[in-house]
Amino acid sequence: MDEDFRALEFTGGALRLIDQRLLPGKLECIDCTTAEEVAEAIRSMIVRGAPAIGGAAAYGVYLALLEAGDDRKRFGDLAATIRSSRPTAVNLMWAVDRMTKKAESTGFDPEALKAEADCIVEEDIRMNHALSEHGVKVLHSGDTILTHCNAGALATCGWGTALGVIKEAHRRGMGISVFADETRPLLQGARLTAWELVRSGIPTTLIPDSAAASLIRDGRIDAIITGADRITTDGDAANKLGTFTLSVVAKAYGVPFYIAAPTSTIDFGMKEGRDIPIEERSGDEVRMIGERLIAPKDVDVWNPAFDVTPHQNITAIITEKGLIHPPFDRNICAIKDR
Ligand code: MRU
Repeated sequence: MDEDFRALEFTGGALRLIDQRLLPGKLECIDCTTAEEVAEAIRSMIVRGAPAIGGAAAYGVYLALLEAGDDRKRFGDLAATIRSSRPTAVNLMWAVDRMTKKAESTGFDPEALKAEADCIVEEDIRMNHALSEHGVKVLHSGDTILTHCNAGALATCGWGTALGVIKEAHRRGMGISVFADETRPLLQGARLTAWELVRSGIPTTLIPDSAAASLIRDGRIDAIITGADRITTDGDAANKLGTFTLSVVAKAYGVPFYIAAPTSTIDFGMKEGRDIPIEERSGDEVRMIGERLIAPKDVDVWNPAFDVTPHQNITAIITEKGLIHPPFDRNICAIKDR
């Protein structure tokens, strides 16, 4: 069964977002009524996760058109503000470009734009269910799965990618269990993934990120599944910082490593992972946990939000169109028009 919450939903003339910064303590929503508010919600990670960002951005572009009216320059500027609100998840640029094209092809018709945003959201949910059905084929009854960050219903328009596969396996009674990395520094694994999995009744153990290597070495992980923020045509995949490390350890110990993502996360215009822009966020995310300082306040910090897992470390990419196996450079391009 799908969740009884939605990361995003357009209702009463506003984009309603679960404020994910407050979870798991509080399940509260905020309403965005302007394009700038949507851009700020993406920047400040009220809404986060590549497909959820894409869905929110789509409604942001619709709001931009309502605000701009016949002022095409203003519409373009507002759409550009949303498009640049975070740099790594390609679903953001994909959604804004799709909405802008729709605006142009319909003579900037607000109704057509609202329908297109609804369509992006519904498509995402459908793609997540479809990729989950493909994904369970790589799992076996009783498997223990490791995941990193949050690639669940909260990170998407509904259901989830990596967590979608896990929930589908659970729904089918496969008796799987999960280790969830806490995912420093913003703790998406502890705050969001653990919250979603516990709500779904899936046996879950939360671990510090640095415990994963020992579990993998000791043969306690059957498969690793994470989401992605951008996949290049060579098969390199950007995802939350720490995913790359997991992939290296997985390869060293022969544990299969899967990326689960809809094809809207594939950047068909980018060949290699080294070209993916990696967001660097505020040092305070590392110096502090919540309001509490946990390091000298003036210490230098490097805080890249993502890293890139090279295709050589990926066993397969799970998409709504099926599994993509190596050689990725050939097989990713082949899936584009399938
Ligand atoms: O910085 P975040 O929380 O937006 O990062 C999210 C991730 O890295 C997710 O794993 C990715 O977007 C896939 S979500 C289905």
